[in-house]
Amino acid sequence: MQLTAQDKEWVDKIWEKLDRKLSQTAVNVRDFIPYTTKDGKYVPDSNEGITWWTNGFYGGLMWLMYVGTQKEVYKETAQIQEKLLDEAFRNYDGLHHDVGFMWGLTAKAQYMLTGDKNSRLRALYAANILASRVNIKGGYIRAWNWRLDYSIIDCMLNIPLLYWASRELGDNRFRYIAQLHADMTMKEHIREDGSVAHIAVHNEDCADVIETLGGQGYGVGSAWTRGQAWALYGFMISHIHTGEEKYLETAKRVADYFLTACEKANYKVVTDFLAPEEPVYYDNTAGGCAACGLIEIYKATGDKKYLDGAIKILKAMEEDCIFDDSDQSILQNCMESYSAGKEMHIIYGDFFLCEAILKLKGEEYLIW
Ligand code: GLY
Repeated sequence: MQLTAQDKEWVDKIWEKLDRKLSQTAVNVRDFIPYTTKDGKYVPDSNEGITWWTNGFYGGLMWLMYVGTQKEVYKETAQIQEKLLDEAFRNYDGLHHDVGFMWGLTAKAQYMLTGDKNSRLRALYAANILASRVNIKGGYIRAWNWRLDYSIIDCMLNIPLLYWASRELGDNRFRYIAQLHADMTMKEHIREDGSVAHIAVHNEDCADVIETLGGQGYGVGSAWTRGQAWALYGFMISHIHTGEEKYLETAKRVADYFLTACEKANYKVVTDFLAPEEPVYYDNTAGGCAACGLIEIYKATGDKKYLDGAIKILKAMEEDCIFDDSDQSILQNCMESYSAGKEMHIIYGDFFLCEAILKLKGEEYLIW
């Protein structure tokens, strides 16, 4: 990683602050799965319970910190988090395509680091659930349980579990399903200018796409920034796992759109690039996830503009971080969806912030 001395110093300092705070959190918050904070204290998701889609991020965050520090406390908390998730396997009807996030960042991450056999089993069960959601006619993986006919951009970060299962079992079916979905996404979700549609609606046969929807963004035709980030990093990860140039080209196209839009707002990442000027809502989860993708594009291409863009986004995000003990969370100003109408802390904001900083430290471990 070619960083200036000044940037290297900045990376080391922010990592130190992350480690100082998270090594305490790892002890204080381990027996439940945190989602956001209330009155400064972590709380779990209050609606969906154990099957909530973000329930692997805290465990994943602990693995990232373990990789970067080798501190046992992170490993112990990650292992506790993984076991808590077992209850979700007993609720088949509550599971969805986000099994990729849930067990990819916990069980698969642990198996890759420790070789634990039970973790391998958990990750393989999750990969099979994900693969079984494929719709062969429409070439997509079904996202949610309440709509058979939707494909959504977020799934690009779930399919890495299938690339892993393919290699682990020597069974290409998993990779074929992942690529079927990635190719459909490239065609139906990514617009010519590099912006991205959150949802594609398939017809009554669940085959051809009949329209796209704004989903968690501002509206039809808009550019929900977390969706842009799912695409940017997701296609880059697909490139890393398959070597396919078309995925790298797609990641770059989305990245170019993302960076041009961010430049206009001094690299503070808004919630939707095409929303009206007022009210202004920010979403740092999008910035963190995009920064991870931008750093990987830089590593693959050597083009400094992607590294510079990632650093500018992360530096702007630092202003929204709480590093003292006034709140258990770190990154603020994240947004569940544009219609939520308010920013908050969300656990995966901290995850992507740490992942990006770990990459800038030169760590090659890819948790996806
Ligand atoms: N995957 C759901 C979201 O990004 O909010």
